[in-house]
Amino acid sequence: MSNHDLAVIVLAAGKGTRLKSNLAKVLHKAGGRTLVEHIVRACQPLKARDTVVVVGHQGEQVAAVVEPLWAVTVLQHPQNGTGHAVRVAKRALGRAKFALVLPGDAPLVRTDTLKALIAMHRNGNAAATILSAVVADPSGYGRVVCKSETAVSAIVEESQLTDEQREINEINSAIYCFTLENLWPALAEVKPNNKHRELYLTDAIAVMSGKGETVLAQVAGDSREVLGCNTRADLAEVDRIFREWKRNELMDAGVTIQLPETVLIDPDVTAGEDTVIEAGVQLLGKTRLGARCSVRTGSVIVDSVIGDDVKVEAHSLMAESRVEDGASIGPFARLRVGTQVKPGARVGNFVETKKAIVGEGAKVPHLTYLGDAKVGAKTNIGAGTITCNYDGFQKHPTHIGKGVFIGSDSVLVAPVRIGDHAYVAAGSTITENVPDDSLGIGRGRQINKPGWATKKRRELASTLQPQKSSRHTIKKEPRPRRSKRKHRR
Ligand code: UD1
Ligand code: MG
Repeated sequence: MSNHDLAVIVLAAGKGTRLKSNLAKVLHKAGGRTLVEHIVRACQPLKARDTVVVVGHQGEQVAAVVEPLWAVTVLQHPQNGTGHAVRVAKRALGRAKFALVLPGDAPLVRTDTLKALIAMHRNGNAAATILSAVVADPSGYGRVVCKSETAVSAIVEESQLTDEQREINEINSAIYCFTLENLWPALAEVKPNNKHRELYLTDAIAVMSGKGETVLAQVAGDSREVLGCNTRADLAEVDRIFREWKRNELMDAGVTIQLPETVLIDPDVTAGEDTVIEAGVQLLGKTRLGARCSVRTGSVIVDSVIGDDVKVEAHSLMAESRVEDGASIGPFARLRVGTQVKPGARVGNFVETKKAIVGEGAKVPHLTYLGDAKVGAKTNIGAGTITCNYDGFQKHPTHIGKGVFIGSDSVLVAPVRIGDHAYVAAGSTITENVPDDSLGIGRGRQINKPGWATKKRRELASTLQPQKSSRHTIKKEPRPRRSKRKHRR
């Protein structure tokens, strides 16, 4: 159905006092995104004519999140309640007939649920249609008071409930579809009759119902979709649900996830068939994994692209890196920004890389730092090799050709080039280029001194001869008493 007559209004101006935070509530994250971003994204497929986000607290930061998603913002200042926020939005609305109003703090709602709500509203010719939910514990939410099976008479906020109404377990999600020609006059009649002296949007429902207008409620099929985030505990619960949905999506696409509840995956992450993700892994940002990969326990991968058949061994960290088909990483490797590992290459344990290209089939098996470095195909980097890329002011590059053998514990002081098929002797400090097919040695010569150790041992033994005991002949002197102060020193 086309929604060219619909405006979306997201209420995102509140501070979120119950979170006890300096950050505006809608900028808190759950499931890898800010709350408000989830909501705007859920509305995007509706193709409404306008999406207006009402901002207030940290409005500029909220605008920076929603404007790239084609939403416009209007400033609500001061924040005089949800009814006031909708009134403020009016000036940014075009010629919409209907408005879908959503709070900025209920991020789990799905597009299909919103479509069903709009369809019910249109088909019922209603003034307002409320998305409600039936829950075991309704505390904290406004309750939907019905006058018949289908018709709503009011929404009553938690603070204003009678004992009888407290028993109602159908709650208001704060997601509604309104017919605007009914909403504006109703809102004009709402008074700030509550302890916060705010204009509640919920009070417009009783006004409409009182005029005999049709107010409907659609009960959400999955009550989890309407969870609002007012407290840190709410945020944690919503995050848990998002993560579960995302893991299920990947498992449905053919990915094995061990102990799924321990694995954290951000919404934009993708993974190919038969990839295995072990317990305690985090796949974050825009990470993409190919098919048949394994990511072993404790690894954290952020904004990285990984090909097919890649092995990421336990406890490896990776950010903004690219690992191509058949490569293996870790355990305990750290690939920092700008690392590229070409097909079949190996970056092993306790290796750190930054802006480094490791060529096809090359090996960096252990205890190495490669920064601003290029390593050619089939080169072997010995344990303990360090590229000295920083002179305290600037970063410098190291170029290592193909088929090179760098002996263990070598220090390559950049800028420096090691030619193709060259050798660097173990323990070298290389400060000058090594030409192709050459050996570079940069270390002190070894000297062996025959018999030196025997002589040294003899000398030491004579100075450490045990003294003869004089215990029985000499009267024991009383030990000098040290003053406490001296002792402490
Ligand atoms: C609201 C509903 C309640 C419903 C619950 C569902 C009202 C009065 N109550 O309560 O019936 O069960 O949501 O989660 O609407 N906001 C503004 N400007 C304001 C005040 C709030 O933009 O002046 C925004 C907030 O940033 C928030 C949303 O409106 O995103 C809802 O406000 P909140 O304070 O969370 O309302 P609840 O107490 O949760
Ligand atoms: Mg709320």
